[in-house]
Formats: sequence, structure tokens, C-alpha cells
Amino acid sequence: MSSTETDDRGLFKMMGYVMLALTVFTITCMLMARILGSQGVDPTDTVMRNALIERIAPVGKIRTAAMVEASGGAAAEPVVVADLSGEELYNGGCAACHAAGVANAPKLGDTEAWASRNELGLEALVASVVNGKGSMPPRGGSTYSDEEIERAVKHLTGL
Ligand code: HEC
Repeated sequence: MSSTETDDRGLFKMMGYVMLALTVFTITCMLMARILGSQGVDPTDTVMRNALIERIAPVGKIRTAAMVEASGGAAAEPVVVADLSGEELYNGGCAACHAAGVANAPKLGDTEAWASRNELGLEALVASVVNGKGSMPPRGGSTYSDEEIERAVKHLTGL
């Protein structure tokens, strides 16, 4: 047996190990993806559903003259995204601080902490959130509209 033949055998062996390692790695990834994947996501959860609708929404749409004619010239139908409730908005954008009182944020359900603040009135509180106050960034760091902020404030303050 020549020495090059032994080298080749070593090379094939090594490649075999690499292939085996890659196969094991691939299968592990597939299993992990399956385990970590869609499980635990409640399909009736409005927040998750809206996030999904947004993720898979088409980037653009084509509307041909034939389609306009077929619809009787009516305006394109907007994608309907369900409105989030105050509680859902609060959970999504405000609970991070207001559940545990991070940075002295007044907590949800702490009637004492809210009593004096609520005296400012709903409008002033909404303005505080929209503009930011103390350690709270503008809109609480969220992308909520003024109307959504108001809904979240109502849930948080009980006003
Ligand atoms: C990064 C943490 C953080 C997040 C996120 C956050 N807040 Fe705050 N919030 C605070 C802190 C801290 C205060 C107290 C500010 C102060 O009085 O100096 C506060 C105060 C408030 C007040 C009282 C304002 C006032 O004028 O007294 C309201 C109402 C409020 N937050 C609503 C919200 C809403 C609604 C959201 C979600 C859209 C939100 N916050 C998100 C930290 C946060």
C-alpha cells in the first residue's frame, strides 16, 4: 500500500465525519425549529394575529382596469386590522415599565399612585405619554397613535 493511498483513506474518513456532523447539526436545527416554532402561539390572540397579518401583508398591490370595472369602480378595499383593546395595547407597549414599576413608573392597579395623577385629567395624562415624561420616552417608546395611547391610558389609570 502506497503512502498516498493511506492519505486518501484518511481524507475520506475525515469527510465522512464532517458529513455526519453536518447531518446531525441539520437535524438538530430542524428539531429546535419545530420545538421553538409555532407552539404556544394562540391563533385567536388579536395581538399575534395583527402582527402576523402585518408580516405577511403584500408590499404592493396591482389593480388593473378590469378589476376596477368588476368592482363597479369602487375604491380598493382597505386591509382590515382589528382594533386592539386598551388592555392589549397596555400589554404590548406599557406593561414593560408599568407592571413592575420600572424607574418608579406608577403601577397598574396602584390606586394610591394614580389618585393624584388622575386629577390632571385624561387629556393631560395622554399628553404626558405622547410627549414623554421623566424616564418615560415619548409614546412610552411605542408607535401607537394618539387614539391608541388614550385607550392604553384608560386601561392603566382606570379613568
Ligand atoms: C420605559 C418605561 C415606560 C414605558 C414603556 C411606559 N411608561 Fe408610562 N411612565 C413611566 C415613568 C417612569 C412614569 C413616571 C414619570 C414621571 O412622573 O416622572 C410614567 C408615567 C406615566 C403616566 C402618568 C403621566 C403623568 O402625567 O403623571 C401615564 C398616564 C403613563 N405613564 C402611561 C403610559 C402608557 C399608556 C404607556 C404605553 C403606551 C407607557 N406609559 C409606557 C415609564 C414608562
